[in-house]
Formats: sequence, structure tokens, C-alpha cells
Amino acid sequence: MAEARTKVTLPYLFEKVAKSEPITWLTCYDYPTAYFQEQAGIEMILVGDSLGMTMLGFDSTLPVKMDDMIRHASAVRRGAPNVFLVGDMPYMTYQPSDEIAVLNAGRFMAECGCDAIKLEGGAAMAPRIKAIVDAGIPAIGHLGLTPQSVAALGGFRLQGKSAALAKLIADDAKALEDAGAFAILLELVPDRVCQIITERAENCIIMGLGSGPHAHGQLLIYHDMFGLYPKFKPKMAKVFGNAGEVILNGLKAYHDEVKCAKFPERENWFGMKDEEYDALKKMLE
Ligand code: KIV
Repeated sequence: MAEARTKVTLPYLFEKVAKSEPITWLTCYDYPTAYFQEQAGIEMILVGDSLGMTMLGFDSTLPVKMDDMIRHASAVRRGAPNVFLVGDMPYMTYQPSDEIAVLNAGRFMAECGCDAIKLEGGAAMAPRIKAIVDAGIPAIGHLGLTPQSVAALGGFRLQGKSAALAKLIADDAKALEDAGAFAILLELVPDRVCQIITERAENCIIMGLGSGPHAHGQLLIYHDMFGLYPKFKPKMAKVFGNAGEVILNGLKAYHDEVKCAKFPERENWFGMKDEEYDALKKMLE
């Protein structure tokens, strides 16, 4: 039986930061997983454009369209009505102009019931954050490894390793906070860079992914934590259970049982009364 959860709101999240209680955040793309995440007490869900890879099988997030995101984010909201739901803006739905960014951010709020949006990029994206926030939509920035720019970054690798590059990320974080971002995700930066940025944040929640323990909260990709992405497992992900293995074994067992006529068993089908059966046979003569 579903347990009722109190709605996670912006004041709730800032209260957790004030109490130094780390915030939990996971990616999610579908209704049943959203239901389980809400039941488990997860506070934030990101409907990430990573769905292009984890759910749709592309090699990158770039082919994901706004309509893909709307379909998945709506399903997640139906499964998890009380989590703080973040819609991830896909490639080229915000980069071209403030106006395009606001219109697409608005779709997440109006069509899916999202609580906020996330977009990738540093100071160059600060005007987009400001335009979205000015339209009344809470916005989250995303720095460090930003998958939509993976070609420019030279692959899925640690960002901000040198002092000079780390300083650029810290400056970007300030620019996004000044533009009105209420949170920033730091993906794959060294732990001490994440610590410095977290300590410098004044009114901004710093969330980490593969960036150490010092952020105000942690994000993980759901498929990585349950062995559900067959192509690779990033070092930063901890596997909390091997659902992929459980599913594969179940599929093999189903295949074998059908082949040797063990499934279906008597409890898996419905019968018909003798008189109805006889009448049917007569009708078909
Ligand atoms: O799309 C996504 O899931 C993301 C994470 C990689 C942070 O943006």
C-alpha cells in the first residue's frame, strides 16, 4: 500500500541545507520506477536527457527531443506526485535564445507538473537562467562534465583538474548563482573543487555527481546504480543492487520454461464450463 509523502518544495530543500542534511536525487524516466523512488523517500527526481542513452539506446544525449522529455516527465510525475521533479532541457532547446529557453522550460511546468528545470553550461548560459527565473520558473545549472558538450570536452572525463580550470568552474558557479539558479549540479569534478564551490555558495544548493562528499546532496543515474545500462558502468557510480542480472536470469528462465512446456501452469490460465465448451463446438461444426 502506497505511503503518503509530504510534498518536497523549495523551502523544504533549503531547510535540509540549513540542517546539513544531505539531499537525495536520482534520475528516473518512467512511471513504476518513479513510484518506487517516491516510496523509498527520494527527495528529488531528474528526468534527465540521459534517457537518450539509458532508455532509447543512442550513444549520446544529443538526439533527445523536447517531446521525448515531455512524455517521460509526465509519466514520472504520475508515479511520484510528491517528489521535487526536475525536467532536463535537451540539446538546442535553450541554447539558441532566451525566448526559446523560456518557452521550453514552460512546457516542463505546464505539461508535466515539474517543479524546476535544469540546463547545462556556465557564464554563457547565465542569461538563459535569468530569463527562465524571471518567468517564474526555478532553474538549476549544471557544470563540470556536461554531456551535451562532450565533444568539446574531449570525452566523459574528470573536469577542473588544474587550478586554472577549477577556477573557471568556480567562476561559472558564481555567475549562475548571481543569475538566479537556486541549485547547481557539479558533475565529475575533484572533491576539493566541489567543497570550495559548496562553501562559497551563498543562496544556492550544490548537488554532486561523482564529485565527492562535500556537496549539499548527491545525484546518481538510476541505471548505473542497478546495473541496468549494458554499455558501461562509470567509476563514480555505486551499484546498489544488480537488477540487470535478476532480469536477465528471469528472462532466461521464461525462455526455458516455455520451450520445455513448464509454463504456463494451471494457475496461469482460465478454463471454460463444459456446457459452454460443448455449445461452442456445436456452433463451429
Ligand atoms: O541527463 C542526465 O541524467 C544528466 C545527468 C548526467 C546529470 O544531466
